[in-house]
Parts: sequence; C-alpha cells; structure tokens
Amino acid sequence: MYKVEMSCSTMVFVVVTLMVSCVMAASAAPCNFNKEIDINWGGNEHVKIFNGGKLLTLSLDNSSGAAFQTKNDYLFARVDMQLKLVPGNSAGTVATYYLSSLGAAHDEIDFEFLGNLSGQPYTVHTNVYSQGKGNREQQFRMWFDPTLAFHTYSVIWNSQRIIFMVDNIPIRVFENNEAIGVPFPNSQRMKVYASLWDADNWATEGGRIKTDWTQAPFIASYKNLKINASSPANSTNNTISNQAWQTQQLDSMGRKKLRWVQSKCMIYNYCTDFQRFPQGLPPECLASS
Ligand SMILES: *[C@@H]1O[C@H](CO)[C@@H](O)[C@H](O)[C@H]1NC(C)=O
Ligand SMILES: *[C@@H]1O[C@H](CO)[C@@H](O)[C@H](O)[C@H]1NC(C)=O
Ligand SMILES: *[C@@H]1O[C@H](CO)[C@@H](O)[C@H](O)[C@H]1NC(C)=O
Ligand SMILES: *[C@@H]1O[C@H](CO)[C@@H](O)[C@H](O)[C@H]1NC(C)=O
Ligand SMILES: *[C@@H]1O[C@H](CO)[C@@H](O)[C@H](O)[C@H]1NC(C)=O
Repeated sequence: MYKVEMSCSTMVFVVVTLMVSCVMAASAAPCNFNKEIDINWGGNEHVKIFNGGKLLTLSLDNSSGAAFQTKNDYLFARVDMQLKLVPGNSAGTVATYYLSSLGAAHDEIDFEFLGNLSGQPYTVHTNVYSQGKGNREQQFRMWFDPTLAFHTYSVIWNSQRIIFMVDNIPIRVFENNEAIGVPFPNSQRMKVYASLWDADNWATEGGRIKTDWTQAPFIASYKNLKINASSPANSTNNTISNQAWQTQQLDSMGRKKLRWVQSKCMIYNYCTDFQRFPQGLPPECLASS
C-alpha cells in the first residue's frame, strides 16, 4: 500500500487503508471544559465553552488572544485533543496545544499550528524541551486541511519516549536517551495548555506575511480533550498501571507509518540541519531508535 511516489496530500488513501487493520486505542472520558480547565488569558470574551463543557473556542482579535490550561498536572500521560484550526486567512496567527511544567528548567512537549493565507498550508510545528532546553523542532504539513474539520492530535508521554500522533498516525518519536546524556522529561509534572495568539513577527514566511486584522476574530476550536494519566494530580501513587500508553512504542506498522510521514510530510528536521549545528548534531539525532 505504500507507493513511493505518493505525496503527503494523497496520504488519505493510505490512512483509510491502514485504519481497517488498526485497532483504535480506548481512551478516558473527555474532560468537561467547564470543570477541568482554567482560562488564563482573554477571559470569557475570548474563551467560550459550549455544549455543556464539550466544546471550547479560542478567539483572537486586536484586543487579545486567548488561552486555557488544565487544573490538574500530570507525570506521564496520554493526551488526545481534537482541534479545528482557524479557517480562511490565518496568516500571522499561531494556535498551540502543549504540555509544560513551566519555569526556567521546564520540560515541555509542543504542538504549534502556524497559520497561513487562505488556501495555503498550515505548518504543524513540534518541539521537546527538557530541563529548559528545546531546539528540537520538527515541522510537518498535514495530509488534510486542518481548518475544515476536527482532527485528533495526541501526545503519548511515558518514561521511555514521547510519541506525537495525528489521527492516530505517529508523526514523531522522541526517545528517552538519558543513557547517552540527553535529559528526558521524566520528573516534572506538566499541565496541558492551549492558546491562540498573534505571532506575525515570525509565524508566516518568517514574519513577511502579517495578520490581517480585518479578518478578526480568528477562531480555533477544541473538543474531546482526553487525558489518561498515571496517577491523580500530585499523587505519587502509581497503582493505575498497565495502561497501553505507559509502555507504548511503535510496532512495525507504526514504524512504517512514521517513516511515511517523515519522508513525505516533514518540512523541517533539526536532526538534518547541519548548518545550524556546525559543532555536530545533537546526540539524540545520532542515536538509533
Ligand atoms: C485510558 O484509560 C482508560 C480508563 O482507565 C482505559 O480503559 C484505556 O485503556 C486507557 N487508554 C490507553 C490508550 O491506555
Ligand atoms: C480593533 O478592531 C475593532 C473592530 O474591528 C476596531 O473598531 C478598532 O478600531 C480596532 N482597534 C485597534 C487598536 O486597531
Ligand atoms: C504558507 O504557504 C506557503 C506557500 O505554500 C509556504 O511556502 C509556507 O511555508 C506556508 N507557511 C506556513 C507558516 O506554513
Ligand atoms: C495539588 O496541587 C495543587 C496545586 O499545585 C493544590 O492546590 C492541591 O491542593 C493539591 N492537591 C492535593 C490532593 O494535594
Ligand atoms: C493508591 O491508590 C489506590 C486507589 O486509590 C489505593 O487503594 C492505594 O491504597 C494507594 N496506595 C498507596 C501506597 O497510597
């Protein structure tokens, strides 16, 4: 089913075919946005909750962006959330969905969605920070238009690796390489965050294309936030064990899908950016996974 000549945008065929044999992982109940998150930017005017807590929208206009965070924090989790990104001319805007422990030596796992002019593709940007150090960007095009419908973006964060998935297709794996001296996020609890803001000084074509405020408000939608975590917030009790995600790794089909996405849909990889790292690539780039 893998035809080498297929491009990222024709991946839909592959996905449909693979899904038939792909068991969807069971997941926790969706969070109620009325109860389980705090609005931390933009207030009720820019963060709106609908359908009894099932759907949330962030809006950006010339007065403010918008953001929310979960009340609880987690040490290892599988987080799934469905996003529908800003439609039409979203140039200059950035929607995010990330896990972070905050602070100077923070750990962070990022999805960022860089807007674009109408009809031009979004960039899906990923990064991993450990102990305050990031610089581990990989960027992708999606094989669908992420503004037309909700799609599921997942972070599987266990003690061995971090897996980024889109509609259950792995797009990136960051392995625990502590053995070769690469710090791994495995001691700081993280909350789940999402935001929508104006980044027209860099987001679209390096800042050349500015936010068109006549198109405001810009709106991104979030639903079905599901968090499967090891233990309740601030508990060290790890009795909820043996959940699939806690040891999840890619099987041979998962590795095939990852290779496909990385060869067809990846538009930037820090691990091949030799100009940026003249002293040598970061060690995790050279480790086999
Ligand atoms: C998530 O948690 C639920 C309830 O504990 C469990 O049934 C399910 O298998 C978990 N999902 C994964 C992917 O581990
Ligand atoms: C912000 O947008 C509103 C509505 O379009 C407009 O009336 C107002 O003048 C704008 N303010 C600034 C500072 O641009
Ligand atoms: C916007 O679209 C142009 C043209 O396809 C592309 O070169 C650019 O990388 C896109 N920008 C972003 C932020 O994805
Ligand atoms: C968990 O931590 C939060 C703040 O980080 C605190 O408000 C809450 O009381 C703590 N809960 C328990 C059960 O210790
Ligand atoms: C851990 O949590 C479970 C379920 O809440 C409880 O039965 C158990 O006693 C706890 N264990 C410890 C060591 O606190």
